[in-house]
Amino acid sequence: MDQIFRKDLSHLTWDEVYARQVQRANLVPAWMDALGVGPGSRVLEVGAGPGYVSLVLADRVGAKGIVYAIDRSAEALAHLERRQTERGISQIRPLVADVATLEGNGLRADSALVTMILHHAEDPAGILRNLHRLLPPAARIVVAEFHPEGPCEQGAPRAARLTPAQVRAWCEAAGFQVRDYRRQSPEHYMLVAERAA
Ligand SMILES: C[S@@+](CC[C@H](N)C(=O)[O-])C[C@H]1O[C@@H](n2cnc3c(N)ncnc32)[C@H](O)[C@@H]1O
Repeated sequence: MDQIFRKDLSHLTWDEVYARQVQRANLVPAWMDALGVGPGSRVLEVGAGPGYVSLVLADRVGAKGIVYAIDRSAEALAHLERRQTERGISQIRPLVADVATLEGNGLRADSALVTMILHHAEDPAGILRNLHRLLPPAARIVVAEFHPEGPCEQGAPRAARLTPAQVRAWCEAAGFQVRDYRRQSPEHYMLVAERAA
């Protein structure tokens, strides 16, 4: 078990963060299905990191879709931009910003992924409040996190994990109604929520 954990991920290189994202690859199809992501969709990824999930989203939305990949780390997004260039695609739009305060001028997303980020954030409730402002009525979000009662063999240590009840309360306070909750594995859970009109 990895005992070292820093919220800002400074205990890992971005290549190591990417390798951890790849380890969680089996979770991603259910996230995209819950949002109804398909060709032409415009999806916002909150806290994209070095970008594994953004690249999977890019495959699903295709050349006519858009993936807004937002992260506070320019270095993480540089990894993603390099991988996007290697693949010869252009539907991912990396943007360095704090999602809790992002203005979103010109950003037009139909839905958002908020996966494995809230336990790294300084203001998780603020991120959800700002997302409510950035997304249109009835837009869906998927929030995924590590379960505090999981075995803690991978991912964040138990003390850093967020309970589903806490995440649900932040979603509801921000104006999202929770439509579904699933334990995706012993370590992971996801909530699907819809922005109120
Ligand atoms: C574990 S990483 C990547 C998570 C990715 N969404 C996934 O599912 O694999 C979490 C990322 O969230 C970013 N992050 C944390 N708080 C943020 C904030 N307020 N605004 C933007 N990015 C943030 C970190 O810089 C980091 O790259």
